[in-house]
Amino acid sequence: MKVIVAKDYKELSSLAADIMEQVIRSKPDARMGLATGSSPVGMYQEMARRCAEEGLDFSKACSVNLDEYVGLAPEHEQSYRRFMNENLFDHINIDKNNTYVALGTGDIDANLKEFQAVLDSKQTDLQVLGIGVDGHVGFNEPGECLFGEAHLEVLDDSTLEANKRFFASKAEVPTKAVTMGLKNIMQAKKLVVVVNGKNKDAATKQLVMTDEVTTKNPVTFVRLHPDCTVIIDQELADAMGYKG
Ligand code: GLP
Repeated sequence: MKVIVAKDYKELSSLAADIMEQVIRSKPDARMGLATGSSPVGMYQEMARRCAEEGLDFSKACSVNLDEYVGLAPEHEQSYRRFMNENLFDHINIDKNNTYVALGTGDIDANLKEFQAVLDSKQTDLQVLGIGVDGHVGFNEPGECLFGEAHLEVLDDSTLEANKRFFASKAEVPTKAVTMGLKNIMQAKKLVVVVNGKNKDAATKQLVMTDEVTTKNPVTFVRLHPDCTVIIDQELADAMGYKG
């Protein structure tokens, strides 16, 4: 696992976009595994800029997203489908028909079967990951065990707390989500994890500064991946006492 300390969020976003650019330029029909949350937003803006100004071409690319809230229709303003359209897909030349965000409404069992079938249909070339304050990746919450495939998760209270900023109140944050499992994530050819800000210091410290792999901190599993880059910002490195 490679760890890079970027001087700030802008540099972190640009370094993550470099990795994505390399994948797309060497394989124009690559499948991108994408994440929501505020962490990758700067990376997505940079990808949009490179598409508009530097000819980075997503016309043959496809994508699959990590997760979606249960109960939010795709057009809901806090759905992850809407997030992806607004933060990335509307600003690059990808064909939206080639982008997949699992459905969080209707028949959830059927949605999960479809989600897993999509994942099985093609290997992801680069999986982008952010992490939750509790170390979750996608919506794989810490616990006694983790799951490999697409499944339903009940969200931890700390996740509801962290994500309530996007809703009118905590009560409105969906309490369940559909998510890729750890096997799905680990099957990607390459992983890039972006983490900024000091509120994720505990989960990130265990990932970067110990050799531990634990279901109590799901992101630690990425250290088992043969091609994983973790990019953190200086503020987080300082909070963890990480010297490189
Ligand atoms: C959500 C998503 C995660 C994401 C996390 C962190 O819970 N399901 O995939 O990593 O948010 O969000 P942020 O980057 O806003 O801190």
